[in-house]
Amino acid sequence: MASPMTKKVLLMGRSGSGKTSMRSIIFADYMARDTMRLSPTIDVEYSHVRFLGNLHLHLWDCGGQDDFYRNYLEHMRDHIFRSVELLIYVFDIESEEQGSDFSQFADVIEAVEQHSPDARVYVLVHKMDLVKEDVRKAVFSEKEASILSQASDHLRIQCFRTSIWDETLYRAWSHIVYSLVPNTALLESHLNEYCTICGADEVVLFESTTFLVIAHATCIPHSDTHRFEKISNIIKQFKLSCRKVQAHFEGMLVQHHQLIALFENLTRSTAIMFISSDPDLMHTALISSNVAQFR
Ligand code: GTP
Repeated sequence: MASPMTKKVLLMGRSGSGKTSMRSIIFADYMARDTMRLSPTIDVEYSHVRFLGNLHLHLWDCGGQDDFYRNYLEHMRDHIFRSVELLIYVFDIESEEQGSDFSQFADVIEAVEQHSPDARVYVLVHKMDLVKEDVRKAVFSEKEASILSQASDHLRIQCFRTSIWDETLYRAWSHIVYSLVPNTALLESHLNEYCTICGADEVVLFESTTFLVIAHATCIPHSDTHRFEKISNIIKQFKLSCRKVQAHFEGMLVQHHQLIALFENLTRSTAIMFISSDPDLMHTALISSNVAQFR
């Protein structure tokens, strides 16, 4: 077996910005409302997530209180900021201390640039559910512009707007995790081939514990560009509901007029969703046998 590929991921941002909440929802099967019970993280909480068999994420959730940051930046600087693959920095959009938020962000960016100049940076403008829907886009764009203007030219920085209360959390985290998965081009070319041969409208590959989207192939275009993260969110909620009634989630079949969607485990670490509107393919057994062939 190939040796594991380990990636260090720093999760940073001020206290209460929502770091542990998002980590718990994505990786520990929390529901959004469960996060209200979380207490502040003391120092750094380390977690080890095994992803797609061979990819190991070392997630460092760094408690956000100001004293901890002084410690990270002064006494633990090398330990924290060395060999970082990814920095995920979370801003609370409703924060009343924007000046301190930005100065801490600038300090963190400087430390990452010094110790891990090749790291990628994802900034999550979080708790967007608290902003009125009609101004969300404008508020995010303004925040993004201020963030990018503070950041260094040398690091690659990308911003997302997120909330634990909708699928935007999955969009951001799918994108982040996708950037860590090796061989996505090869995966996508296999999926494209499979999608064409089987006459599917679309085939989507998910990581099976988080339900984050790893790759997809689309033969018939669809107008909803956020459909994947919506599916991740729905299936995760469904799996958690199954667990509540002590049922084991193995898959899902949705049939509606001329459309069939089958979701089932593909390998130990992946699940696949097969979507078709071809009347000749409206048989679950046929689709399952196609999935078995692909497996
Ligand atoms: P520290 O551990 O002190 O660094 O804080 P943290 O960044 O880990 O914050 P935490 O995840 O503990 O969240 C603080 C509070 O924010 C909790 O009550 C969460 O329920 C709430 N919260 C997290 N994400 C969201 C969100 O997207 N929207 C809203 N409205 N509240 C959120």
